[in-house]
Amino acid sequence: MTFTPFDLEYHQSLWEQEVDINLTESGVHPIRLDELLDDDSDKVSELLATEINYPHVNGNPELRENIAALYDGAGVENVLVTVGAAEANNIIMQTLMAPGDELLTQTPTYKQVWGIAANSGNVVKSFRLVSEAGWAVDTDELNAGVSDKTKIIAIVNPNNPTGKIMTDDEMDAVVAAADKVGAWILADEVYRGAERLQEEETPSFFGRYDKVLCLGSMSKAYACPGLRVGWLVGPPDIVEDIWRRHEYTTITAGIISNILAAHALSPTVRPRLLKRTREYIRNGFPILEEWMNSQDGMFSYTPSEASAVSFIRYHLDINSTELMEILCREASVFLGAGDSFGMDHHLRVAFGQPRATLEDAFQRIEKTLASLR
Ligand SMILES: Cc1ncc(COP(=O)(O)O)c(C=O)c1O
Repeated sequence: MTFTPFDLEYHQSLWEQEVDINLTESGVHPIRLDELLDDDSDKVSELLATEINYPHVNGNPELRENIAALYDGAGVENVLVTVGAAEANNIIMQTLMAPGDELLTQTPTYKQVWGIAANSGNVVKSFRLVSEAGWAVDTDELNAGVSDKTKIIAIVNPNNPTGKIMTDDEMDAVVAAADKVGAWILADEVYRGAERLQEEETPSFFGRYDKVLCLGSMSKAYACPGLRVGWLVGPPDIVEDIWRRHEYTTITAGIISNILAAHALSPTVRPRLLKRTREYIRNGFPILEEWMNSQDGMFSYTPSEASAVSFIRYHLDINSTELMEILCREASVFLGAGDSFGMDHHLRVAFGQPRATLEDAFQRIEKTLASLR
Protein backbone atom coordinates (compact mmCIF):
# COMPACT_ATOMS: atom_id res chain seq x y z
CA MET A 1 0.00 0.00 0.00
CA THR A 2 1.39 3.46 -0.82
CA PHE A 3 1.81 5.86 2.05
CA THR A 4 0.11 9.25 1.76
CA PRO A 5 1.94 11.99 3.68
CA PHE A 6 -0.07 14.51 5.73
CA ASP A 7 0.08 17.18 3.03
CA LEU A 8 -0.49 20.28 5.19
CA GLU A 9 1.91 19.28 7.96
CA TYR A 10 4.48 18.10 5.40
CA HIS A 11 4.51 21.50 3.73
CA GLN A 12 4.71 23.16 7.14
CA SER A 13 7.76 21.03 7.93
CA LEU A 14 9.32 22.20 4.68
CA TRP A 15 8.48 25.88 4.75
CA GLU A 16 7.55 27.29 8.15
CA GLN A 17 11.13 27.89 9.31
CA GLU A 18 12.24 29.13 5.86
CA VAL A 19 9.91 32.07 5.19
CA ASP A 20 9.80 35.58 6.64
CA ILE A 21 6.08 35.39 7.37
CA ASN A 22 4.17 32.23 8.18
CA LEU A 23 0.42 32.65 7.72
CA THR A 24 -0.44 28.97 8.03
CA GLU A 25 -1.01 28.88 11.78
CA SER A 26 -4.71 28.46 12.42
CA GLY A 27 -4.36 29.54 16.04
CA VAL A 28 -3.55 33.12 16.96
CA HIS A 29 -0.10 34.49 17.73
CA PRO A 30 1.21 32.28 20.60
CA ILE A 31 1.15 33.67 24.11
CA ARG A 32 4.41 34.21 26.00
CA LEU A 33 5.02 32.32 29.22
CA ASP A 34 5.22 35.51 31.28
CA GLU A 35 1.88 36.69 29.85
CA LEU A 36 0.29 33.33 30.66
CA LEU A 37 1.60 33.45 34.24
CA ASP A 38 0.80 37.17 34.61
CA ASP A 39 2.91 37.78 37.73
CA ASP A 40 1.28 34.88 39.59
CA SER A 41 4.19 34.31 41.95
CA ASP A 42 2.58 31.26 43.60
CA LYS A 43 2.33 29.54 40.24
CA VAL A 44 5.92 30.46 39.37
CA SER A 45 7.12 29.02 42.71
CA GLU A 46 5.06 25.86 42.14
CA LEU A 47 6.63 25.43 38.70
CA LEU A 48 10.16 25.97 39.99
CA ALA A 49 9.62 23.41 42.74
CA THR A 50 8.19 20.79 40.38
CA GLU A 51 10.07 17.52 40.11
CA ILE A 52 10.43 16.81 36.41
CA ASN A 53 8.77 13.46 36.76
CA TYR A 54 6.13 11.65 34.70
CA PRO A 55 2.74 13.16 35.49
CA HIS A 56 -0.51 11.14 35.68
CA VAL A 57 -0.52 9.20 32.43
CA ASN A 58 -4.10 10.25 31.62
CA GLY A 59 -3.53 13.90 32.60
CA ASN A 60 -3.19 15.46 36.03
CA PRO A 61 -6.44 15.58 38.04
CA GLU A 62 -6.68 19.38 38.15
CA LEU A 63 -6.29 19.59 34.39
CA ARG A 64 -8.89 16.88 33.79
CA GLU A 65 -11.30 18.65 36.15
CA ASN A 66 -10.86 21.93 34.30
CA ILE A 67 -11.40 20.17 30.97
CA ALA A 68 -14.49 18.29 32.21
CA ALA A 69 -16.00 21.61 33.29
CA LEU A 70 -16.07 22.68 29.62
CA TYR A 71 -18.62 19.95 28.73
CA ASP A 72 -22.12 19.78 30.24
CA GLY A 73 -22.49 16.49 32.09
CA ALA A 74 -18.81 15.43 31.87
CA GLY A 75 -16.63 14.33 34.80
CA VAL A 76 -12.93 13.49 35.05
CA GLU A 77 -13.70 9.89 34.05
CA ASN A 78 -14.73 11.16 30.62
CA VAL A 79 -11.39 12.91 29.95
CA LEU A 80 -8.06 11.70 28.58
CA VAL A 81 -5.24 14.23 28.16
CA THR A 82 -3.08 13.64 25.08
CA VAL A 83 -0.05 15.10 23.33
CA GLY A 84 -2.02 17.61 21.28
CA ALA A 85 -5.31 16.91 19.57
CA ALA A 86 -3.07 15.26 16.98
CA GLU A 87 -2.45 12.32 19.31
CA ALA A 88 -6.13 12.20 20.28
CA ASN A 89 -7.15 11.85 16.61
CA ASN A 90 -4.52 9.21 16.10
CA ILE A 91 -5.36 6.93 19.02
CA ILE A 92 -9.10 7.27 18.49
CA MET A 93 -8.59 5.99 14.95
CA GLN A 94 -6.34 3.16 16.20
CA THR A 95 -8.95 2.14 18.76
CA LEU A 96 -12.10 2.31 16.69
CA MET A 97 -11.25 1.54 13.07
CA ALA A 98 -10.87 -2.09 11.98
CA PRO A 99 -10.09 -3.46 8.52
CA GLY A 100 -13.14 -3.06 6.27
CA ASP A 101 -14.57 -0.14 8.28
CA GLU A 102 -15.36 3.10 6.49
CA LEU A 103 -14.74 6.68 7.54
CA LEU A 104 -17.07 9.47 6.48
CA THR A 105 -15.60 12.95 6.65
CA GLN A 106 -16.07 16.47 5.29
CA THR A 107 -14.52 18.26 2.33
CA PRO A 108 -12.83 20.66 2.79
CA THR A 109 -11.33 19.66 6.12
CA TYR A 110 -8.15 19.18 8.15
CA LYS A 111 -7.08 15.87 6.68
CA GLN A 112 -5.43 14.08 9.59
CA VAL A 113 -8.05 11.38 10.21
CA TRP A 114 -8.65 11.14 6.46
CA GLY A 115 -4.95 10.29 5.97
CA ILE A 116 -4.78 7.86 8.90
CA ALA A 117 -7.76 5.93 7.54
CA ALA A 118 -6.45 5.96 3.97
CA ASN A 119 -3.01 4.78 5.10
CA SER A 120 -4.61 1.91 7.01
CA GLY A 121 -6.46 0.74 3.90
CA ASN A 122 -9.89 1.90 5.10
CA VAL A 123 -12.35 3.35 2.61
CA VAL A 124 -12.83 7.09 3.13
CA LYS A 125 -15.99 8.79 1.88
CA SER A 126 -16.79 12.45 2.18
CA PHE A 127 -19.64 14.93 2.10
CA ARG A 128 -19.25 18.50 0.95
CA LEU A 129 -19.39 21.77 2.75
CA VAL A 130 -20.82 23.78 -0.14
CA SER A 131 -18.91 26.96 -0.88
CA GLU A 132 -21.78 28.57 -2.87
CA ALA A 133 -24.00 28.02 0.19
CA GLY A 134 -21.62 29.65 2.69
CA TRP A 135 -20.02 26.29 3.54
CA ALA A 136 -23.32 24.68 4.56
CA VAL A 137 -23.33 20.89 4.99
CA ASP A 138 -24.63 19.00 1.96
CA THR A 139 -27.00 16.82 3.98
CA ASP A 140 -27.95 14.70 0.95
CA GLU A 141 -24.29 13.72 0.54
CA LEU A 142 -24.01 13.18 4.31
CA ASN A 143 -26.96 10.79 4.29
CA ALA A 144 -25.82 9.05 1.12
CA GLY A 145 -22.32 8.62 2.59
CA VAL A 146 -23.26 6.41 5.54
CA SER A 147 -23.59 2.65 5.27
CA ASP A 148 -23.47 -0.38 7.55
CA LYS A 149 -19.69 -0.19 7.22
CA THR A 150 -19.38 3.40 8.49
CA LYS A 151 -17.51 3.27 11.81
CA ILE A 152 -16.84 6.98 12.27
CA ILE A 153 -18.26 10.24 10.99
CA ALA A 154 -15.46 12.74 11.53
CA ILE A 155 -16.25 16.42 11.61
CA VAL A 156 -14.26 19.52 12.50
CA ASN A 157 -16.49 22.14 14.11
CA PRO A 158 -15.82 25.08 13.95
CA ASN A 159 -14.39 23.90 10.68
CA ASN A 160 -10.81 24.16 9.58
CA PRO A 161 -10.21 25.57 6.93
CA THR A 162 -13.50 27.47 6.42
CA GLY A 163 -14.11 28.80 9.94
CA LYS A 164 -17.79 27.81 9.57
CA ILE A 165 -19.80 26.87 12.67
CA MET A 166 -22.45 24.19 12.13
CA THR A 167 -26.05 25.17 12.73
CA ASP A 168 -28.13 23.18 15.21
CA ASP A 169 -29.93 21.55 12.28
CA GLU A 170 -26.63 20.48 10.76
CA MET A 171 -25.47 19.01 14.07
CA ASP A 172 -28.79 17.14 14.33
CA ALA A 173 -28.32 15.84 10.78
CA VAL A 174 -24.85 14.46 11.66
CA VAL A 175 -26.25 12.78 14.78
CA ALA A 176 -29.19 11.30 12.81
CA ALA A 177 -26.85 9.97 10.10
CA ALA A 178 -24.57 8.37 12.72
CA ASP A 179 -27.49 6.95 14.70
CA LYS A 180 -29.01 5.36 11.60
CA VAL A 181 -25.98 3.06 11.24
CA GLY A 182 -24.60 3.02 14.82
CA ALA A 183 -21.47 4.98 13.85
CA TRP A 184 -19.29 7.01 16.20
CA ILE A 185 -19.00 10.78 15.82
CA LEU A 186 -15.46 12.10 16.12
CA ALA A 187 -16.02 15.80 16.75
CA ASP A 188 -12.78 17.75 16.49
CA GLU A 189 -13.69 20.94 18.34
CA VAL A 190 -10.25 22.51 18.72
CA TYR A 191 -11.53 25.92 17.52
CA ARG A 192 -14.33 26.04 20.10
CA GLY A 193 -13.80 29.29 22.05
CA ALA A 194 -12.22 31.08 19.07
CA GLU A 195 -15.47 32.64 17.84
CA ARG A 196 -15.29 35.88 15.85
CA LEU A 197 -18.91 36.96 15.49
CA GLN A 198 -20.56 35.70 18.66
CA GLU A 199 -19.84 35.66 22.37
CA GLU A 200 -21.36 32.21 22.99
CA GLU A 201 -19.01 29.31 22.57
CA THR A 202 -19.74 26.87 19.78
CA PRO A 203 -21.91 24.07 21.18
CA SER A 204 -20.16 20.75 21.66
CA PHE A 205 -21.38 17.45 20.25
CA PHE A 206 -20.83 16.02 23.76
CA GLY A 207 -24.19 15.00 25.27
CA ARG A 208 -26.04 15.02 21.91
CA TYR A 209 -25.52 11.32 21.20
CA ASP A 210 -24.04 8.43 23.17
CA LYS A 211 -21.26 7.46 20.72
CA VAL A 212 -19.43 10.78 20.62
CA LEU A 213 -15.76 11.57 21.13
CA CYS A 214 -14.96 15.28 21.32
CA LEU A 215 -11.49 16.77 20.97
CA GLY A 216 -10.02 19.96 22.36
CA SER A 217 -6.57 21.50 22.42
CA MET A 218 -4.42 24.16 24.05
CA SER A 219 -3.11 25.07 20.58
CA LYS A 220 -5.88 27.19 19.06
CA ALA A 221 -8.38 29.00 21.30
CA TYR A 222 -5.78 29.15 24.11
CA ALA A 223 -2.77 30.17 21.97
CA CYS A 224 -0.42 27.61 23.56
CA PRO A 225 0.54 25.25 20.69
CA GLY A 226 4.00 24.61 22.16
CA LEU A 227 2.54 22.99 25.28
CA ARG A 228 1.50 20.06 23.07
CA VAL A 229 -1.55 19.38 25.19
CA GLY A 230 -4.87 18.22 23.80
CA TRP A 231 -7.66 16.00 25.07
CA LEU A 232 -10.57 13.82 24.23
CA VAL A 233 -13.88 13.55 26.06
CA GLY A 234 -16.18 10.55 25.67
CA PRO A 235 -17.88 7.61 27.39
CA PRO A 236 -15.61 6.26 30.20
CA ASP A 237 -15.33 2.70 28.82
CA ILE A 238 -14.08 3.83 25.42
CA VAL A 239 -11.85 6.45 27.04
CA GLU A 240 -10.21 3.55 28.93
CA ASP A 241 -9.67 1.67 25.67
CA ILE A 242 -8.14 4.72 24.02
CA TRP A 243 -5.93 5.29 27.10
CA ARG A 244 -4.46 1.80 26.48
CA ARG A 245 -3.27 3.06 23.05
CA HIS A 246 -1.98 6.29 24.61
CA GLU A 247 0.35 4.17 26.79
CA TYR A 248 1.86 2.68 23.64
CA THR A 249 2.01 5.93 21.67
CA THR A 250 3.40 8.66 23.92
CA ILE A 251 2.74 7.42 27.51
CA THR A 252 1.82 10.94 28.58
CA ALA A 253 2.03 14.66 27.90
CA GLY A 254 4.79 16.47 29.86
CA ILE A 255 4.45 17.47 33.50
CA ILE A 256 5.22 21.16 32.96
CA SER A 257 2.66 21.22 30.16
CA ASN A 258 0.07 19.58 32.42
CA ILE A 259 0.59 22.25 35.08
CA LEU A 260 0.54 25.15 32.62
CA ALA A 261 -2.53 23.81 30.81
CA ALA A 262 -4.40 23.37 34.11
CA HIS A 263 -3.50 26.97 34.97
CA ALA A 264 -4.62 28.24 31.55
CA LEU A 265 -7.98 26.43 31.79
CA SER A 266 -8.69 27.50 35.36
CA PRO A 267 -11.87 29.58 35.74
CA THR A 268 -9.82 32.71 36.50
CA VAL A 269 -7.28 32.52 33.66
CA ARG A 270 -9.31 30.97 30.85
CA PRO A 271 -11.52 34.04 30.16
CA ARG A 272 -8.39 36.20 29.81
CA LEU A 273 -6.92 33.82 27.19
CA LEU A 274 -10.16 33.58 25.21
CA LYS A 275 -10.44 37.39 25.23
CA ARG A 276 -6.91 37.68 23.88
CA THR A 277 -7.59 35.10 21.13
CA ARG A 278 -10.84 36.75 20.10
CA GLU A 279 -9.16 40.15 19.95
CA TYR A 280 -6.57 38.83 17.51
CA ILE A 281 -9.28 37.21 15.39
CA ARG A 282 -11.65 40.17 15.49
CA ASN A 283 -8.89 42.67 14.68
CA GLY A 284 -7.20 40.50 12.06
CA PHE A 285 -10.13 39.52 9.87
CA PRO A 286 -11.08 43.09 8.81
CA ILE A 287 -7.47 43.70 7.73
CA LEU A 288 -7.61 40.61 5.53
CA GLU A 289 -11.08 41.48 4.25
CA GLU A 290 -10.19 45.06 3.37
CA TRP A 291 -7.15 43.87 1.46
CA MET A 292 -9.07 41.14 -0.43
CA ASN A 293 -11.76 43.62 -1.42
CA SER A 294 -9.13 45.94 -2.89
CA GLN A 295 -7.80 43.22 -5.24
CA ASP A 296 -10.09 43.78 -8.28
CA GLY A 297 -12.10 40.58 -7.99
CA MET A 298 -9.10 38.31 -7.47
CA PHE A 299 -10.75 36.67 -4.44
CA SER A 300 -14.16 35.40 -3.39
CA TYR A 301 -14.87 34.18 0.13
CA THR A 302 -17.39 33.54 2.87
CA PRO A 303 -16.25 35.33 6.05
CA SER A 304 -15.21 32.82 8.69
CA GLU A 305 -17.28 32.69 11.89
CA ALA A 306 -14.57 31.23 14.12
CA SER A 307 -10.85 30.33 14.10
CA ALA A 308 -8.05 32.53 12.81
CA VAL A 309 -8.28 31.31 9.21
CA SER A 310 -10.33 31.99 6.10
CA PHE A 311 -10.57 29.73 3.07
CA ILE A 312 -10.42 31.90 0.00
CA ARG A 313 -11.11 31.19 -3.68
CA TYR A 314 -8.59 32.91 -5.93
CA HIS A 315 -9.35 33.60 -9.59
CA LEU A 316 -6.10 32.63 -11.28
CA ASP A 317 -5.54 29.62 -13.48
CA ILE A 318 -2.89 28.02 -11.30
CA ASN A 319 -2.87 25.04 -8.95
CA SER A 320 -2.98 25.90 -5.24
CA THR A 321 0.15 23.96 -4.22
CA GLU A 322 2.08 25.61 -7.05
CA LEU A 323 0.81 29.04 -6.02
CA MET A 324 1.69 28.37 -2.36
CA GLU A 325 5.25 27.42 -3.38
CA ILE A 326 5.65 30.50 -5.61
CA LEU A 327 4.52 32.72 -2.70
CA CYS A 328 7.01 31.02 -0.36
CA ARG A 329 9.87 31.45 -2.81
CA GLU A 330 9.10 34.90 -4.17
CA ALA A 331 7.24 36.70 -1.38
CA SER A 332 8.61 34.67 1.53
CA VAL A 333 5.04 34.35 2.79
CA PHE A 334 3.61 30.91 3.53
CA LEU A 335 -0.14 30.23 3.09
CA GLY A 336 -2.04 26.92 3.23
CA ALA A 337 -2.75 25.41 -0.21
CA GLY A 338 -6.35 24.43 -0.93
CA ASP A 339 -5.07 21.04 -2.09
CA SER A 340 -4.05 20.27 1.51
CA PHE A 341 -7.73 20.48 2.52
CA GLY A 342 -9.11 18.64 -0.53
CA MET A 343 -10.11 21.70 -2.58
CA ASP A 344 -7.90 23.28 -5.25
CA HIS A 345 -8.02 26.97 -6.27
CA HIS A 346 -8.27 28.05 -2.66
CA LEU A 347 -5.78 29.37 -0.15
CA ARG A 348 -6.13 29.20 3.61
CA VAL A 349 -4.99 32.50 5.05
CA ALA A 350 -4.33 32.86 8.78
CA PHE A 351 -5.04 36.32 10.17
CA GLY A 352 -4.50 35.94 13.93
CA GLN A 353 -1.32 38.04 13.83
CA PRO A 354 -0.41 41.66 14.56
CA ARG A 355 -1.54 44.29 12.01
CA ALA A 356 2.01 45.09 10.87
CA THR A 357 2.72 41.42 10.08
CA LEU A 358 -0.51 41.06 8.11
CA GLU A 359 -0.02 44.29 6.15
CA ASP A 360 3.55 43.35 5.26
CA ALA A 361 2.41 39.87 4.15
CA PHE A 362 -0.46 41.16 2.02
CA GLN A 363 1.76 43.70 0.25
CA ARG A 364 4.24 40.98 -0.61
CA ILE A 365 1.49 38.64 -1.85
CA GLU A 366 -0.03 41.42 -3.94
CA LYS A 367 3.27 42.04 -5.68
CA THR A 368 3.75 38.36 -6.52
CA LEU A 369 0.17 37.94 -7.70
CA ALA A 370 0.56 40.97 -9.98
CA SER A 371 3.37 39.17 -11.77
CA LEU A 372 1.09 36.13 -12.30
CA ARG A 373 -2.06 37.87 -13.54
C1 LIG B 1 -8.77 20.55 13.24
C2 LIG B 1 -7.46 20.28 13.89
N1 LIG B 1 -7.34 19.21 14.69
C3 LIG B 1 -6.19 18.93 15.30
C4 LIG B 1 -5.08 19.72 15.12
C5 LIG B 1 -3.81 19.38 15.87
O1 LIG B 1 -3.73 20.23 16.96
P1 LIG B 1 -2.69 20.04 18.18
O2 LIG B 1 -1.72 21.16 18.07
O3 LIG B 1 -3.54 20.13 19.40
O4 LIG B 1 -2.05 18.71 18.02
C6 LIG B 1 -5.14 20.84 14.29
C7 LIG B 1 -3.96 21.68 14.05
O5 LIG B 1 -3.93 22.50 13.16
C8 LIG B 1 -6.38 21.12 13.66
O6 LIG B 1 -6.53 22.18 12.87
